[in-house]
Amino acid sequence: MEWEWNYVVWSIIIIVPTTLIIVFFKRNSSSYKLPPGPPGFPIFGNMFDLGTLPYQTIAEFKQKYGPVVWFKIGSVETMSILSAKTATEFFKNHDFTFAERKIIDTMLVHDYNLGSLAIARYGTYWRVLRRICTVEMFVNKRINETVDIRRKCVDDMTHWIEKEVNSVEMKGSGIEVTRFVFLSTFNMLGNLMFSRDLVHPGSKKASEFFNAMMRIMVLSSTPNISDIFPRLRTFDLQGLKKKMHREMGIALDIASTFVKERMKEREDGEEKKKDFLDVLLEFEGSGKDEPAKLSEHQITIFTLEMFLAGSETTSSSVEWTLTELLRHPEAMARVKAEIFQIVGQNKKFEESDIDNLPYMQAVVKEVLRLHPPLPFLVPRRAMHDTNFMGYDIPEDTQVFVNVWAIGRDPEYWDDPLDFKPERFLNSKTDFKGQCYEFLPFGAGRRMCVGLPLGNRMLHFVLGSLLHEFDWELPSNVTPKSMDMKERMGMTVRKFNPLTAVPIKTFG
Ligand code: HEM
Repeated sequence: MEWEWNYVVWSIIIIVPTTLIIVFFKRNSSSYKLPPGPPGFPIFGNMFDLGTLPYQTIAEFKQKYGPVVWFKIGSVETMSILSAKTATEFFKNHDFTFAERKIIDTMLVHDYNLGSLAIARYGTYWRVLRRICTVEMFVNKRINETVDIRRKCVDDMTHWIEKEVNSVEMKGSGIEVTRFVFLSTFNMLGNLMFSRDLVHPGSKKASEFFNAMMRIMVLSSTPNISDIFPRLRTFDLQGLKKKMHREMGIALDIASTFVKERMKEREDGEEKKKDFLDVLLEFEGSGKDEPAKLSEHQITIFTLEMFLAGSETTSSSVEWTLTELLRHPEAMARVKAEIFQIVGQNKKFEESDIDNLPYMQAVVKEVLRLHPPLPFLVPRRAMHDTNFMGYDIPEDTQVFVNVWAIGRDPEYWDDPLDFKPERFLNSKTDFKGQCYEFLPFGAGRRMCVGLPLGNRMLHFVLGSLLHEFDWELPSNVTPKSMDMKERMGMTVRKFNPLTAVPIKTFG
C-alpha cells in the first residue's frame, strides 16, 4: 500500500512539471504558431482592451492582424473568426473539432449543463435532443399545428398595446414596444412547451416563473470573474453562482410541477392536443447507445432552455427591425404597402401570408445582418489540439465566430454599413447556414436548432405589428436623430429600449 502511495506521489512530482515544460517549449518553439493578435498584459491578457461592445472592438483587430485573431480574456485563450472566407474554412473543414461550447460557471448549477442541449458535450445526449428537435418539434408540420397558439399570443399582444395606448396620457411620447413583444414571445414558448399562459396576471405560479427566468437571463449575461479566471471558480467572488443556484432552483421547481402534472394527466388518460412537453415525455430511445427515456430532470431543464434560447433572440430582432424601419421611412412605407397589398384591410395578418411578402423577408434579413442577436454565436471550444489555416490551436481554446463583423465583410457586401433590404431581393443569400457571409443563426452541427420556429415567430409578430398599427417616432425624435446605441447582455439589444407611438391602422 505504502509502495503504491509513493508511486503516485513520485508520478505527480515528475509528470506535472514535465508536462508544463513540454507545453512551454512547444508553444515557444519556432514551428508552433498561434494566430496573430494584440499583445496582452500578464495575467489579465487583453480583457481591458475589449470594452463593453467586444464584438466591435474585436472586429477592428482585423485591420491590423487579419481575419483570424488570437487574444486572451484573463486566462482564457480565445480565437476569433472575422471574415466570410475564414468562416467558410471553419465550418466546412473544422466544424467537428469546434463542436463543443465554452461553458460559463453559472450554467453549472443544478447540473443545468447535463440536461441542456445548447451547452451539451458533443455526443450521444446532444444528438438525441437535437434529433427530437429537428424531427419532432421544429418541423413545419408541428409548427403549423401550433399556429393557433401564436395567433392567440399575438392577439393578446396587440390588445395589451391598445390598452397601454388608451390608458396613459401619451402626448406623443410613445410606448416601449419591446416589453410587449418580449411578453408575447415568452408566452408563445410557454404555450408551445406547457400549453399554458406564463405571463398571465392572475397566476402566481406563472409570474414567479417569469420573474425567476428574467433574473436567470440577467445573471447568465453578467460578466463573471470565474469565467475569466476559471481557477477562481471555487470562490465565486461575485456570488453570481450562488444567486443563479437560487433562481434556477425556483424556475426548475415550478417547471417540474408542470411536468409532473402532465405526467399525471397522461397516466389518467386525459386527452389533449400534443405539445412540446408531450414530445419529450413520449421519447423512446433504443436504450443501447442512447438513453431509453429522458429523465424528469433533463426534460425540465430542456423546457427552461427553450425560453432562454428563444425569447430574447426573437424579441430583440423584432425591436431592431422596428427601429431600422423607423429610421428608414421609405423602407417602412414599402413594407407596409406590401403587407396591405397581400393581407388587405379586412382580415388579420396570418403566418401563411409570410411567404408572399418578399420585401418584409428582405427587411428581416438585412436587420439580422446588421444586428445579429448573438454576435459571437454561442461560443465554441476546441475539443483537441488542432491546426486551423496554418495556425496551431490548443485544446480548449474559446472561439468567437464574429458574425457581426462577417456581416460587414466588404469582400462580400456592397456598402456593408448601409441598411439596404433590396440587396436580398432576387438573391439566394439566406441564413440557413450555407452562406458563410451571413450567419445570424450560426452554421454546422451546432447551428440554431430553433430556426424554423424563431423565423416564423419573428415574421409573424413583426407583420402583425405593422399591419395593426402605424408606427411613429415620439415628437422630439427624427429618423436621423434616433439613438442607435447598443448594449451586450444575453443578446445585443438597443441600449435605450425603442420608444414608438402606435396608431391603430383601421380606426
Ligand atoms: C431570431 C431568433 C433566433 C436567433 C437569431 C438564434 C440564433 C442562434 C445562434 C447564433 C445559435 C448558435 C449557433 C452556433 O453555434 O453555430 C443558436 C443556438 C441554439 N438556438 Fe437559436 N436563435 C433564435 C431562436 C431560437 C428559438 C426560437 C429556439 C427554440 C425555442 C432556439 C434554440 C436554440 C438552441 C437549443 C440552440 C443550441 C443548438 C446546439 O447547441 O446544438 N433558438 N441560436
